Amino acid sequence: MTAGADLTGLNTLQLHATAQHLVTVISVDQLRAEIAALEEGAVPHVLGGGSNVILCDHLPGTTLLMAMKGREVLSEDGTQVVIRVGAGESWHDFVVWCHHQGFHGLANLALIPGSVGGAPIQNIGAYGVEVAERIEAVHVVHRHTGERACLSRDDCEFRYRDSLFKHSAGVQWIITEVDFVLDREAVVEANYPSLRTRLSEAELTHDAVLAAVISIRRERLPDPVITPNVGSFFKNPVISQQDIDILRQNFPEIPVYPASGDAVKISAAWLIDQLGWRGEERDGVKVSDDHALVLEGCGARSAAPWLALAEDIAGSVKEAYDVSLELEPRVIGATE
Ligand code: EPU
Repeated sequence: MTAGADLTGLNTLQLHATAQHLVTVISVDQLRAEIAALEEGAVPHVLGGGSNVILCDHLPGTTLLMAMKGREVLSEDGTQVVIRVGAGESWHDFVVWCHHQGFHGLANLALIPGSVGGAPIQNIGAYGVEVAERIEAVHVVHRHTGERACLSRDDCEFRYRDSLFKHSAGVQWIITEVDFVLDREAVVEANYPSLRTRLSEAELTHDAVLAAVISIRRERLPDPVITPNVGSFFKNPVISQQDIDILRQNFPEIPVYPASGDAVKISAAWLIDQLGWRGEERDGVKVSDDHALVLEGCGARSAAPWLALAEDIAGSVKEAYDVSLELEPRVIGATE
């Protein structure tokens, strides 16, 4: 255990946060022992890859850094394979490893920063694929009691950038391992417009999709190793058909994508961009020059300026379009 640990290198916003006690967790048994050893009523904070969190300045009590490794093929029948992966594995390394093994279905999610254990929480998605489609089960430990459970895909209540783990019914579960179901012969998924335009008919292969996704991301999204960021800072709002009909009367060019049921998803980047936010810089945080949905750090070292700029952006979107923006990263330390 490290007392008064600096978390700067453990979050991609590079915030100068500290944890009162930081424990690196490498096994389920160790995790349960750490929980059992906590003082009565104490609840640990949990940190994975740190790529989708906004850390408050000081995390009191114990923070568990999930570093459980391991990739185990559980079953393989010639068409499908089920793989159990430790929460602490790097997401991108896992995607590339699957590709080289000939296990398909995740190429569109290449280069998303973070760990395997973080992927189900926000149901990571990109270029027409959401990770939920490939999750068979999520193994968890209860952060108060240490109880173990295995949640099915349905139990996880996956939605667009959302899952059980973000809500009161599931926030107490700590993800330890994820089971993925992948295909030997998966169909290439290349319908997302910016991906499709990169690929010719001859190139509709898993290799080409992986390469194209990596190159699009490198061009459009800042590398968190160099520039502090968490990718998209807001979710794309999901609104009713009735509301989009009204919005379109004034803003006919607004990009719209299908969502579940009767709802539609609209482009938050477009809404923000139209209001002139791209390139705006305040107190060490900047709206990316390349993508209006991405905020970049240029000196800010605490959560406050990030949240302040986000609040101003969301306020202006609400005023202009009567649409509410929700934060995509999770704030850790204040509201848990
Ligand atoms: N657009 C603008 N201005 C910009 C950027 C984009 O107007 O500065 C408009 C364009 O019309 C563009 C549309 O927004 O066609 C959509 O842009 P993009 O394809 O980049 O997708 P996005 O909806 O902004 C989502 C995910 C990304 C993911 C991409 C690609 C969310 C919150 N974000 O962004 O995920 O990489 O689609 O599938 O759903 C992340 O979650 O951190 C992330 C980067």
